[in-house]
Amino acid sequence: MTGMVALVKRLMASRLSRPVDVVRIYREHLLDATAYAASSRRDLQLSRSDGYASRKAQLDGQIIRAYHQIEKGMALPTPRRPYGIKVKERLVKLLALAAEFPDPPASVADGRSALAALDNHNSTGAIDSTVAPLPQPAPDGADDAARLMELFERRHSVRDFDASRPVDRTALKKAVELAGMSPSVCNRKPWHVSFFDSTESKKAILRLQRGASGFGDGIPVVAVISVERSLFTGEGERFQEWIEGGIFAMNLVWGLQAQGLDSCLLNWSKRNRETRALRSVTGLSDSHDVIVVVGIGHGRAGHRVTRSPRRTLDELCTFEN
Ligand SMILES: Cc1cc2nc3c(=O)[nH]c(=O)nc-3n(C[C@H](O)[C@H](O)[C@H](O)COP(=O)(O)O)c2cc1C
Repeated sequence: MTGMVALVKRLMASRLSRPVDVVRIYREHLLDATAYAASSRRDLQLSRSDGYASRKAQLDGQIIRAYHQIEKGMALPTPRRPYGIKVKERLVKLLALAAEFPDPPASVADGRSALAALDNHNSTGAIDSTVAPLPQPAPDGADDAARLMELFERRHSVRDFDASRPVDRTALKKAVELAGMSPSVCNRKPWHVSFFDSTESKKAILRLQRGASGFGDGIPVVAVISVERSLFTGEGERFQEWIEGGIFAMNLVWGLQAQGLDSCLLNWSKRNRETRALRSVTGLSDSHDVIVVVGIGHGRAGHRVTRSPRRTLDELCTFEN
């Protein structure tokens, strides 16, 4: 409150602010403060760190986090032996909690196999090839690297789609499968993509999104990428979903491109009330955070893209001792 009073005083003192501006800015400030408080309340509800996993997704996240520690232990240069005593205790408790759900999360089976592998490792020294497999060998030949670089260099956001060319669902599914290979913190895999192809739904989403003016009508498929918030726990992970969601979104774009599909990421930098409206239009769960919307289709023959100059290498990176 004192912050707001100070803000108003500062604005009143400013020669640039007319009373009407002061009221507008004050109103914006109040709206922001209310929305931030609501977001924090929701974050706390969905991801409290006291180990109380009332939601299935919360429990799923905690089970994955625990068994992933076991996996990591076996992928170290020299796996310790014995190791994982504490994490075993925790995982056993979490699996018992999971058993109370009529339809336990899918991570239960992976948790069990990790526990069995841990016990076997601690007693015999064996490394379980399911829990810690050898990586697939890299394909030899320069072709693959060249193709990958070409994929990076050729990609551009497309804002001029051929509305008459349908988008193959198999290609969309393949792109999602590829994006699903993305890394995520302790392999939490929190992502979901909803695809929309009816004119009505696309219109409703893009009306709320407001970043596709001039090309929204021609977008064949609109996707909404979201992340399950309850899979992250406590203050330390309070922004994690945005990282995971960003990595996945980019990989979905690569996956689409690999399937011959063009796309344009469309920001979801929105107020809570707009997200609520999107939930009611799309049926998105309350516990999912919206990362970004994506317009997908085949670029119209002869379409143009933006120049979008890049930062120089010197700006992008430095090498320090
Ligand atoms: C998170 C995110 C949100 C974006 N939102 C929009 C948008 O709302 N509308 C739009 O036309 N482009 C949007 N873009 C596309 C950017 O303008 C574009 O990626 C950038 O200018 C670089 O151009 P390029 O993608 O062609 O390389 C967005 C990009 C990102 C990564």
